[in-house]
Amino acid sequence: MTNLTHYDPELPVHMTFATHDWHILAQHWYPIALGRDVSEQPIGTMLLDMPLVIYKMGDELIVAKDVCPHRGVPLSLGKNDGQGVVCRYHGLRFGEGGKCNRIPAHPEQKISDRFHLKTYAAVELYGLIWCSLKAEIGSTPNIPTMPHWEDADFQQLVCPQVDIACFAGRQLEGFIDVAHFAWVHPDTFGDPDDVEVPDYKTKETSYGFEADYISSVGRYPIGLDQRGQDDFKWLRHFEISLPFTATLTIHFPNGGRQVIMNSASPLTARQTRLFAPICRNYDKDLPVEDAYDFNLKIFEEDRLIVENQKPEYLPLDLSLEAHFPADRSSSMYRKLLRKMGFSPLFAA
Ligand code: FES
Ligand SMILES: [Fe+2]
Repeated sequence: MTNLTHYDPELPVHMTFATHDWHILAQHWYPIALGRDVSEQPIGTMLLDMPLVIYKMGDELIVAKDVCPHRGVPLSLGKNDGQGVVCRYHGLRFGEGGKCNRIPAHPEQKISDRFHLKTYAAVELYGLIWCSLKAEIGSTPNIPTMPHWEDADFQQLVCPQVDIACFAGRQLEGFIDVAHFAWVHPDTFGDPDDVEVPDYKTKETSYGFEADYISSVGRYPIGLDQRGQDDFKWLRHFEISLPFTATLTIHFPNGGRQVIMNSASPLTARQTRLFAPICRNYDKDLPVEDAYDFNLKIFEEDRLIVENQKPEYLPLDLSLEAHFPADRSSSMYRKLLRKMGFSPLFAA
């Protein structure tokens, strides 16, 4: 039975993270939905085990705990009647700022603050809704930068989200891994004969670290030629923003650039929702669905790996797994997560 003296309303009821790790994670910003999916009608989601409801009142974006303060029914089951989201159980209505503006059973009663929703800091950026469970509402959001998102020479796309049954740290590490292309992605962009990994360096930054990887592994879909440049050396520039976002800028032949943001949003310690805004300065006339499909295929190839790795958590203590030089980025990633104070068995 829950001991009431240990009940902390700030924490989710069903906690899959160590409380110590949760408090650090909750300070950061994560994408929780596609901007195009959000309207005045409420949608439910989850972040760090916390159930969330997202809705709009005019231009105002509201993200709140998806728990009615009256008897705990999710507001995401309700509907917005134009003046707020109406709870399915007793019709309490929540409008601007998540404030209760109607108690149908007692229309004359003054509404106490106890009936307002617990709201969280949220903004829309890169076509995504970002949220932090601990940031102050209205404070400047600390969201990773995305090169070329504002650049008029680039086309901006936001891939549909992908749900993966793994810890966000494992997914992020897979995205920055440069030794698996030939083994996991031979049907999309990898070359099964191109397995050797040239040396590369990492550099610590204010937001995490960066890595420049130069190799012969291309990024055109298999079947397309290299557009006349057989000996082209591809540069992949990674910027890793701790804890779970990385942007990869791929330098294509003829000055082409593609930027992919891989933001792994931790729904729970074992469920990740992957968001991937992309911008590119070539093929801008091709249907965006082709780019969505190609990226989805790549992420589906990775799914087999990240959903089956053991342990499911990320061992930050480097002595717990074996490493080779091509793992420079993942070793750096683990070292810096440890420095942030996360447990040696992160999300165990
Ligand atoms: S539970 Fe929401 S109004 Fe009663
Ligand atoms: Fe991959």
